[in-house]
Amino acid sequence: MNPEFKESVKSAENSNEEFFTVNFGANKIKIFFEEDSCNWVWNYKYIYQKDALELKSQLDSSLKTNKIALINYFYTFIIPDISNLNSHIAPNTKSILDIGAGIGLFDLFLNQVFEHQVSFDLIEVDNLAEIEHVTNNPEETKNLDDNIQIRPVDALKKLMSVNKANNINIIESKSIDQYMDRKYDLVLSFRSWGYLYDLNLYEKFVRNTLNPNGLVITDLSIFDDSINKFSKLFKEVTLINEAGNNKRFIGKDLK
Ligand SMILES: C[S@@+](CC[C@H](N)C(=O)[O-])C[C@H]1O[C@@H](n2cnc3c(N)ncnc32)[C@H](O)[C@@H]1O
Repeated sequence: MNPEFKESVKSAENSNEEFFTVNFGANKIKIFFEEDSCNWVWNYKYIYQKDALELKSQLDSSLKTNKIALINYFYTFIIPDISNLNSHIAPNTKSILDIGAGIGLFDLFLNQVFEHQVSFDLIEVDNLAEIEHVTNNPEETKNLDDNIQIRPVDALKKLMSVNKANNINIIESKSIDQYMDRKYDLVLSFRSWGYLYDLNLYEKFVRNTLNPNGLVITDLSIFDDSINKFSKLFKEVTLINEAGNNKRFIGKDLK
């Protein structure tokens, strides 16, 4: 078991389940729990429920299972994302857009790593039941229990509020037209835009809002024509990482 994960679980137990900490270089990152966002992990990332139960039992931990699941999600997805992107994110980045941010843990983390003030906009859907994922990995997002409501925008707002992340703003996907005058240095999308649904959905928004020297970093599905479409959007396209069902690209200089 990853000793860093163990240490984060310990920190959560020691804080009376209020927050967990993560060591990152010279930084100690602190993330406060919020029930809806823990439940987002538990219900949406349900294929990892068994792992969380096993980890809880191995550690003989008193921590609530959905909190173990959140820390496990953090170490399974967010830490590798941070390591992968570290060298690509310019230190002078001032404005970031994250499309399909989930519960925004990547952004909460990055927010604490930056030494200067950065503004974040996170796009999410109001109700997961209303959307249809047309491209990749349907098994991860469908088959949700009919009784379970997943409200990402709601969970995001609550998590940002308990973490006092006032510079992280949440945008509901249906209202993006109101934000066309925003400007971003960096547009991110992990396992969402071009991976679960078509790039067309936010192409106009990104065209309007990306700064001339801005970067787009997104995971693209290998099962459809997303990579081809993405390559047609930018003059410079670089592959930076490959995972099972997706490839992570950087796009620079919109055509
Ligand atoms: C696999 S999760 C990835 C979450 C997070 N980016 C991560 O990597 O852990 C995909 C996310 O995309 C969101 N999503 C799905 N359709 C969307 C849409 N049309 N606009 C914005 N977000 C969407 C889902 O609600 C979900 O949180």
